[in-house]
Amino acid sequence: MTTLNCPEEYLLAKKLVKLHPWSDMVKFARSGGEANSIAIRIARAASKRDNVGICGYHGWHDWYLSVNLRSKKNLNTHLLPGLETDGVPKSLRNNVYAFNNNDLYALKKIYHKHKIGSLIIEIARNHMPNETYLKSVREFCNKKKIVLIFDECTSGFRRNLGGIHLLAKVYPDIAMFGKALGNGYAITAVVGKKKVMEKAKNSFISSTMWSERVGFVAALATLKEMERTKSFNQIISNGKYINKKWLELSKKYNLNLKIKGFDCITSFEFPKNNQIYKTFISQEMLKKGYLASNLIYISTKHTKKIIDNYIQALDKVFYLIKNNKAKVIKSLLKGPVSKKTFKRLN
Ligand SMILES: Cc1ncc(COP(=O)(O)O)c(C=O)c1O
Repeated sequence: MTTLNCPEEYLLAKKLVKLHPWSDMVKFARSGGEANSIAIRIARAASKRDNVGICGYHGWHDWYLSVNLRSKKNLNTHLLPGLETDGVPKSLRNNVYAFNNNDLYALKKIYHKHKIGSLIIEIARNHMPNETYLKSVREFCNKKKIVLIFDECTSGFRRNLGGIHLLAKVYPDIAMFGKALGNGYAITAVVGKKKVMEKAKNSFISSTMWSERVGFVAALATLKEMERTKSFNQIISNGKYINKKWLELSKKYNLNLKIKGFDCITSFEFPKNNQIYKTFISQEMLKKGYLASNLIYISTKHTKKIIDNYIQALDKVFYLIKNNKAKVIKSLLKGPVSKKTFKRLN
């Protein structure tokens, strides 16, 4: 372990820039929250404006949680509801502003009121992005000199070899990747245009473990394997297959399940008593050897055989749900009903 850059760091940067031809430079970190904080630091340095607009989930750091200082509900429509802010300095309360996906009007309003200099959005979580909306966001950011950042920590490398924005043909100034990039090893990347990224030279962004070698080696190996196997196509078709099977069970037991998410990150929801049933499913599926809730991040290892066995096991749980009242199912739970939010249990 040294603080020098290993050859694999250079090779990985080169590869990511090649996959994202709009970009020139890369900075690596270990977690998605760190990558987001790096991107925001660079964007603020480049735009010379403190205020930021956000849409989506971007990690645990002060800058992001500060959105909830004005109202605890501000982040409720951005993946994790109920995020508390104890320990986040109150002085940060008027810097970061959230708006909902596909709401260009709200974005413009935030700009006119707060003169944001950076915009960070998750372009895909439950759906593929709306290309017309993304194009309008890009145009607006160009016009107002706002640094546009796509947080693809979750969406990247699950639909194609790179960011989903490549499919939409709308390009940011900075994009972040993580999760799938290292296939379980800690590695995240902040990829950006030179004219923006080089503004980092007048700031301090550094951490001892960012030069640790395993993450780069893992990401290079993962990208090679993704290219060889087209893993993104596999996980999409596995996801489609699970969705089909869930719908068949839903029909069989007349459960009216709502299937959500895009195929490679898929989930289902009951129209009523969802939290009770979700908890019950986890409890009962554990007994059958499955770690399962109502959400699956599909992997290439979820083969048809594994999925079929899982569906067979789930069939028996759905049978119980169909044939018992919700209060009976609740009484069968060995622990509390799982919470929708991060709120305390008592
Ligand atoms: C889009 C997005 N950004 C940032 C993060 C934070 O990443 P990490 O949990 O690695 O800090 C996540 C994690 O779920 C994420 O989905």
